[in-house]
Amino acid sequence: MTKIGLIGTGMLGNAVGLHLLESGHELIVYNRTKEKTSELKNHSAKVVDFPKDVVSLSELVIICVKDAAAVKEVSFGHDGIVQRNHENLVVADMSTINPNETRQISKQFKESGITLLEIPVMGGPNVAIKGGLVLMASGNEEVFNRHKKVFETIAKQIFFLGQSGVAHSVKLAMNIQIAMLALAISEGITLARASSIDPETFLKILNSTYFKTGMSENKAYKMISDKFEPTFTLNNLKKDLNTINESAKSFGVTLPMSTRAEEIYQKAIENGFGDLDYTGILAYLKQATKSVDLHN
Ligand SMILES: NC(=O)c1ccc[n+]([C@@H]2O[C@H](COP(=O)([O-])OP(=O)(O)OC[C@H]3O[C@@H](n4cnc5c(N)ncnc54)[C@H](OP(=O)(O)O)[C@@H]3O)[C@@H](O)[C@H]2O)c1
Repeated sequence: MTKIGLIGTGMLGNAVGLHLLESGHELIVYNRTKEKTSELKNHSAKVVDFPKDVVSLSELVIICVKDAAAVKEVSFGHDGIVQRNHENLVVADMSTINPNETRQISKQFKESGITLLEIPVMGGPNVAIKGGLVLMASGNEEVFNRHKKVFETIAKQIFFLGQSGVAHSVKLAMNIQIAMLALAISEGITLARASSIDPETFLKILNSTYFKTGMSENKAYKMISDKFEPTFTLNNLKKDLNTINESAKSFGVTLPMSTRAEEIYQKAIENGFGDLDYTGILAYLKQATKSVDLHN
């Protein structure tokens, strides 16, 4: 079993950590807000005070924080990973960040003798808790293979994609699907309600067609019941839409729907919906379209 360091015990990191512990691994954890490590501590993880403290106790360090700025902070900041250099250390970053940033972070780690693997994932905490994520990986393949057993514990499917940056480009393309599906279902429900159609009927018909999705078959039923308990926050999806649009620009393309989606998610945040689940975009649309909403 591997001694694994985990930096970032937010919604996703906490679930990944619990599953690694349940699978018999030793876990050393750090989170900026210490209270969020208590569940892992109760399941026998060792909690440390600084990111650099994780390093000397671990063979593999997994980072799962909000964005590129946070990854840089825990990696290269005053108390970051590189401050306790450690021969043959491997860092695997699960955070969703810009592929250009990840290439730069990988280079910076290399200068300190540390290998960075990129392991962004699809699937939320409810899936991570059972080891059911889908993991996209890039970086050094030989190093990846050395720790493959740990990644196979985390994920039910793994796609090794090659050179640094590639996994994050694919992950961003995946998150376009999440943003568009949430908006499409929300607008469908909004239109159905506005024309006096029971949204459950709308979903029943949608789910009888080729156009059904995991979201329309599952989460959409919580959406029509106004249940927006977060597993992936609207704030974080907006963060990803910004990363998607910035990355697209750097690759010389523009994505009109993602650009518009970012504006809509930004408006939802400005109106106080940022801490809801990303599907709370439906609640924002309900408020934003009130003037024409005759039935709710
Ligand atoms: N939830 C999902 O379904 C899901 C799925 C796939 C990928 N992801 C990605 O996984 C990452 C984590 O997601 P999450 O849902 O766990 O988010 P979250 O619950 O919002 O947690 C964010 C984590 O980042 C830490 N953080 C933020 N800024 C920091 C900084 N400047 N320095 C150090 N730590 C910082 C937070 O620490 P504090 O506790 O101190 O704030 C917390 O541990 C994100 O990149 C997200 O896009 C999430």
